Amino acid sequence: MYDNLLLEKHDRIAVLTVNRPAKLNALNIATRNEILAVLDTLQADVEVRVLVITGAGDKAFIAGADISEFAGQTALSQRDIMTQRRAFDAMESFPKPVIAMINGFCLGGGLELALSCDIRVASSKAQFGQPEINLGVIPGGGGTQRLTRLIGEGKAMELILTGEMITAAEAQALGLVNHVFAPEELQAKTLALAAKIAEKSPVALRMAKEAVKTAARAGLDEGLRREVDLFSLCFASEDKEEGVRAFLEKRKPNFVGR
Ligand code: COA
Repeated sequence: MYDNLLLEKHDRIAVLTVNRPAKLNALNIATRNEILAVLDTLQADVEVRVLVITGAGDKAFIAGADISEFAGQTALSQRDIMTQRRAFDAMESFPKPVIAMINGFCLGGGLELALSCDIRVASSKAQFGQPEINLGVIPGGGGTQRLTRLIGEGKAMELILTGEMITAAEAQALGLVNHVFAPEELQAKTLALAAKIAEKSPVALRMAKEAVKTAARAGLDEGLRREVDLFSLCFASEDKEEGVRAFLEKRKPNFVGR
């Protein structure tokens, strides 16, 4: 169905694999457009509650934007490409939780995609970096902003100015990834984390994601007001009735996503 993506479903979890292993899953324009299309499909699919994104093969998550497509671009044509609807922004505002399962090189646009996800987990063999500076450019998919917000200016600045790679253990120490697993355990551990989240109310997950994302975009007063609105909106859902009733009846809730 897609030229550059594989999509599998494990119960309520969709696993999306960027499938260009011969190019270390570099994100060309066609792949970015396919990601936009698949997100629209998955958003509408009520059976899918959590999305996991990963890269094909055992070498790379995503080794960046496809550098071959930089050749021949002018400032204006590149700006046109980058001001269209963007896969990274769509990932960030996707209304279901997204986990980046980072199985190898996570560089440039690959790291920027991971930064647009909600949770990052990595193989102990993964390597991370923003190497754009080595090409005479800078991160253009949100890296200067999202990396800085996640790990702080000093550390983000060093990664972006040196273009050097760091290990999974270093990425974890920086708070860039939540968990590091042995390569052979990565998939099972990630799916277990996804399954834990998939049991929750899709309505509450959506509100929680939006509320947390607001923290990076709004001042404290506006963020706290938004949190109250989103909290209150949960009270309009069947899932809130079910969650509270299940607690009082001392049983597990069965959330339906309404
Ligand atoms: N864009 C386009 N092609 C890429 C790519 C990218 N970002 N990253 C890797 N590839 C291609 C290589 O050109 C090579 O293709 P080829 O076999 O047709 O020549 C193939 O993927 C394998 O990569 P290779 O460089 O041979 O693997 P390696 O193990 O020697 O090195 C890296 C791995 C990740 C260190 C190296 O590929 C690299 O530096 N990639 C670019 C990373 C980058 O700068 N990303 C930011 C882009 S803005």
